[in-house]
Amino acid sequence: MDLSMIREAIARQRPGWSLEQMFYIDPVYYQFEQRSWLARQWYTLAHASELPDVGSFIVRDLLGESLIVVRDSERIVRAYYNVCRHRGSRVCTVDGRAGAFVCPYHSWSYRLDGSLRSAPAMSPDTDFKELGLHPAPVREVGGVILGSLRGNPQDIDAVEVAAEAMLQYHGIPGARIAARRSYPTRANWKLVMENFMECYHCYPAHPEYCSTMKHVEVLARKASPEAAESYEREMERWFREDADPDSPVAPRKSTYTDAMKQHTSRAPIGGSRQTQSQDGKPVATLMGRQRKFDGGMGVFSVRPFAFLALLNDHAVMFQFLPAGPEQTDVHISWLVDQAAKPADVDVERMVWLWDVTTVQDKAIVELNAQGIRSCAYQPGPYSLLEPGPAALIQGYLRELEAGWAA
Ligand code: FES
Ligand code: FE
Repeated sequence: MDLSMIREAIARQRPGWSLEQMFYIDPVYYQFEQRSWLARQWYTLAHASELPDVGSFIVRDLLGESLIVVRDSERIVRAYYNVCRHRGSRVCTVDGRAGAFVCPYHSWSYRLDGSLRSAPAMSPDTDFKELGLHPAPVREVGGVILGSLRGNPQDIDAVEVAAEAMLQYHGIPGARIAARRSYPTRANWKLVMENFMECYHCYPAHPEYCSTMKHVEVLARKASPEAAESYEREMERWFREDADPDSPVAPRKSTYTDAMKQHTSRAPIGGSRQTQSQDGKPVATLMGRQRKFDGGMGVFSVRPFAFLALLNDHAVMFQFLPAGPEQTDVHISWLVDQAAKPADVDVERMVWLWDVTTVQDKAIVELNAQGIRSCAYQPGPYSLLEPGPAALIQGYLRELEAGWAA
């Protein structure tokens, strides 16, 4: 891999403009960023309800690696590379529940804490202590299981402090998954995340989203100070008059300045809507400790890849998983309160908005990827309505450069 070429390319990118073609399509660049940057980010691996019991485990892919994620005997969530310490076989192939992991090849077995428990016919001087499964960073934050390959667990301490109360208030730790859909997208992760972080495209691409999110419609049409001011006025009125005063999250005016970090916010959907359904009426029972339908939408994210939208009666958990130079796996899980009975939940009305919107996003992002493959593609300038992607790309380049300097 010619690192000097990549280094020069990073230095050459123009702030406020999209990147040169190779950043979006080249397998060599992807291999480089996978090791140097993607491996340090945090991703939503699962919801807590996917590991309900001691010994519950799931097998998940992350950046080309297979991880076993398990709830151990202390109910702590742990993750291990799914690679046997004998001769490297996959240890688990399907989700399940067990007291130990047994490799299918020669039956080495591992405890839930990853340590080697038994290995038949090994010489007596074999040191079991040095042959445990390799751990991967993982944390359960308010019911959201966040994982990484080389992320710093201390970064998640700050996320936990900032977000735990909000996720508890919304009932996320005890929620259950009522629906789950996947949207594999043939595009580099930057195109998927750039798109997710701007609403410049909302008006042309998402009629359903704009008809539901009234305030976004105003902002998405025109980047004017008047539109922004009217939004701020409505937000302040909503917090004063309508919002549940018990909500632990205060309004935040700027939501785009720290694109690489944890973010929590709460704002009204608008138009007197109680939730993100087509008619604005509830699709399930209230979640968590919320006491009334105040029409608010909370956001919890660890940017750029982990994102939850928190409505009064359901939550939408997005998973964005880079899966190759031109492939990103997008999964959405819709969560409802643990006490909500199936008859209390209208699944089709609940999934309507984000299903139709994500199908649209997949289509426009794949068209974007097709255009970028052309010899005629050149970087273009971000608009005033795209501070999210501009900050994402700048932060990404800055961190790649800092990694070099370190
Ligand atoms: Fe796992 Fe041999 S490779 S026991
Ligand atoms: Fe979109």
